[in-house]
Amino acid sequence: MSRPLTISVTCGFALLALIGVLMPDQKKNESASKNGDHASAGQGVFQTTCATCHGGRGQGSYEKKAPSIASLPRWYIEDQIKNFRSGVRGNHQDDLTGQQMRGAISVLTDEQVSEALDTLETFPAVDHEPTIQGDLKKGAHYYRENCMECHRFNGRGELAFRSSHVAGLQDWYLLAQWQKFKAGVRGYHPADVGGAKMRKAVRYLENDEVAKDVIAYIATLAKKFPDKKSEKPRASDSKVSTK
Ligand code: HEC
Ligand code: HEC
Repeated sequence: MSRPLTISVTCGFALLALIGVLMPDQKKNESASKNGDHASAGQGVFQTTCATCHGGRGQGSYEKKAPSIASLPRWYIEDQIKNFRSGVRGNHQDDLTGQQMRGAISVLTDEQVSEALDTLETFPAVDHEPTIQGDLKKGAHYYRENCMECHRFNGRGELAFRSSHVAGLQDWYLLAQWQKFKAGVRGYHPADVGGAKMRKAVRYLENDEVAKDVIAYIATLAKKFPDKKSEKPRASDSKVSTK
């Protein structure tokens, strides 16, 4: 009677000790991916490649100048990846961040990119703290007059025009892209149909001050018009740190 009990108790302790040895690493990995840090190999293409710049949940990174890609629609992401790959975007000598993105995906196969995008789709959209001060009232007015036609009232773009989501992206990223279109560092390629539209649109606003007002307004849209279609819960960037 007492013998099997002793054996099972001993086995129980051995098992607990074994779990104790294995647990810390497992816990470390879990909390690394929870914090959005890039995680170790064996976790799929998204975590081993994209996460190094875009963060473990696609929330973006100010240091890497990488946008928050978690709330972008798949058609737009696929368009842009095609553009980066073919040199329609990210191939200008003054486009350093575009070149980084272009270089990073040049080593991946189409299947690997597709796997990364499947992973990306599982992450919630992320809210970002504003970093650009602007006159929101003026920004709203100029947005309605000059941008809404393509980017829509809620900033979620329109597949039919292939105009992108601007809601849900960080304001500093939007401003940087605005300046790239203006300088001809993005949208310069003859095959860049969407970029050409933006090269025209940058002429609609008289100066960068007005552009900042509009972008500060755009930064309010994601919270104002939550993404009902996917009903994804939103995370706050203070929890996943994009800055
Ligand atoms: C070395 C860092 C790096 C890696 C790795 C990387 N990216 Fe990027 N990515 C960037 C940067 C920086 C930009 C902004 C480019 C610019 O300024 O035009 C960007 C832009 C993008 C954009 C365009 C977003 C928009 O709003 O137009 C998409 C989509 C994207 N990345 C997806 C991915 C995916 C998917 C992966 C993994 C397969 C990946 N990236 C890997 C740095 C990186
Ligand atoms: C005629 C249609 C049109 C108008 C008007 C327009 N846009 Fe765009 N915008 C686009 C398209 C199309 C894209 C995607 C470009 C691409 O494919 O690279 C885009 C992309 C952008 C991007 C880059 C987003 C990203 O994820 O990288 C920003 C920022 C932007 N637009 C801001 C504005 C602002 C601000 C206005 C108003 C002053 C405006 N746009 C007016 C069509 C338009």
